[in-house]
Amino acid sequence: MLNQAFFGILLVKPQKSQAVKTLTGVVQVPGDKSISHRALMIGGLAIGQTTIEGLLEGEDVLATAAALRALGVLVEKTGAASWQVRGVGLGGLQEPETVLEMGNSGTAARLLAGVLAGHPVSATLTGDASLNARPMGRIIDPLKLMGATFQCRSGGRLPLSITGRADPLPIDYHMPVASAQVKSAILLAGLSAPGVTRVVEPKPTRDHSELMLRHFGAQVDVEDLPDGRRAVSIHGQPELSGRNIIVPGDISSAAFAMVAALIVPAAKLSLPGVGVNPLRCGLIETLREMGGSVVCQNQRIEAGEAVADLIVAGSALRGVTVAADRAPSMIDEYPILAVAAACAKGTTRLEGLSELRVKESDRLGGMARGLAACGVALEEGEDFLVIHGTGVPPKGGVKIETALDHRIAMAFLVLGMVSSEPISIDDASPIETSFPGFTALMNGLGADIEDEEISSHE
Ligand code: S3P
Repeated sequence: MLNQAFFGILLVKPQKSQAVKTLTGVVQVPGDKSISHRALMIGGLAIGQTTIEGLLEGEDVLATAAALRALGVLVEKTGAASWQVRGVGLGGLQEPETVLEMGNSGTAARLLAGVLAGHPVSATLTGDASLNARPMGRIIDPLKLMGATFQCRSGGRLPLSITGRADPLPIDYHMPVASAQVKSAILLAGLSAPGVTRVVEPKPTRDHSELMLRHFGAQVDVEDLPDGRRAVSIHGQPELSGRNIIVPGDISSAAFAMVAALIVPAAKLSLPGVGVNPLRCGLIETLREMGGSVVCQNQRIEAGEAVADLIVAGSALRGVTVAADRAPSMIDEYPILAVAAACAKGTTRLEGLSELRVKESDRLGGMARGLAACGVALEEGEDFLVIHGTGVPPKGGVKIETALDHRIAMAFLVLGMVSSEPISIDDASPIETSFPGFTALMNGLGADIEDEEISSHE
């Protein structure tokens, strides 16, 4: 949390969610977090003015905006979710005078490190307790090969100081993990490199950087290799020009309302303008396999990204197996999928989850502990979770530790909408990082989420 970390105080916001009869209405999903970070950063590196409509005004993206300002980019809010960026041109960032505070955001920290690796400046990045515990070795290794130098804490953790260079070396890098953040950090550093920088990902991950870099005028080539890997190449030192961007609704935020609509009896929600980039749609596919009614209407392309209106209605869900190769297309959706599985009839097996251990919290452990406390039968492995649903919502009646993790917080507030006893969470404040106004929005649809008193031991 940005301000809390800065002032060294902890302002927790416990909440309680209890069962409701139904949910109906229209959900205006906030802007996509991944696309919002990229629009600001790439806009900052372009020459001229970029306008952004629908920017996510959550704490994570505001941390990126503040960091860019500290690097000399003019970033202004011009209206409701409308922003303007006056880019300094590639290589034009200034050395910041203060430490860059990245809050809770791994995307902000890792992508910005890539940008900085291609500039002859030194900067220090830090974050909250969650971000400062997350592994940065995955971006440090390739960016070092490109010529950047680093100083960081043990285990490759923040706070981290980076010194970049004006002419980083173009590299050909084979990523050990399927990570869009790592790929994007390398591509953003490769923007400054004299030549072609190539990244090979073990499985295709979200391609928002590729789409947006092209939208701003860069040449990005994509090659699908016969063994299922994907190679992405960027031609360095392009002329990037300011553009207009429309940010679609974030499917990773929509996911919470979607699962709420599926598990609450007779619910029906419509979610207009949600991003349905094929590399982000694993949850829709999985919920349909579970018997969920999820309809996509009016599919269109806006500023290079696929967008649709979704209609989701209460459904009897059944257990499924979700194989590891689907993980990159729904990596942030496992907490809420686990909630759907806990309400489904039959066994759900989620495989290939090792990356969940290094998200804003250990999401695999956190979900397994929380669901078990709610009365759900499950087995947790190093990289899998098996959930035995009975077709009847679990008992609940517990307080969940959210460990500064917005998605764990929202997942259990959704489960509380159907559990036989209310579910409390220790802290709803991290929800502001990705889904400002979540509680009010859900309550407007019929949910019953309220703030709780902070008990003395907190
Ligand atoms: C993101 C990529 C994913 C995702 C994160 C956003 C991005 O992380 O979990 O919320 O915007 O590139 P990884 O790259 O670590 O899988």
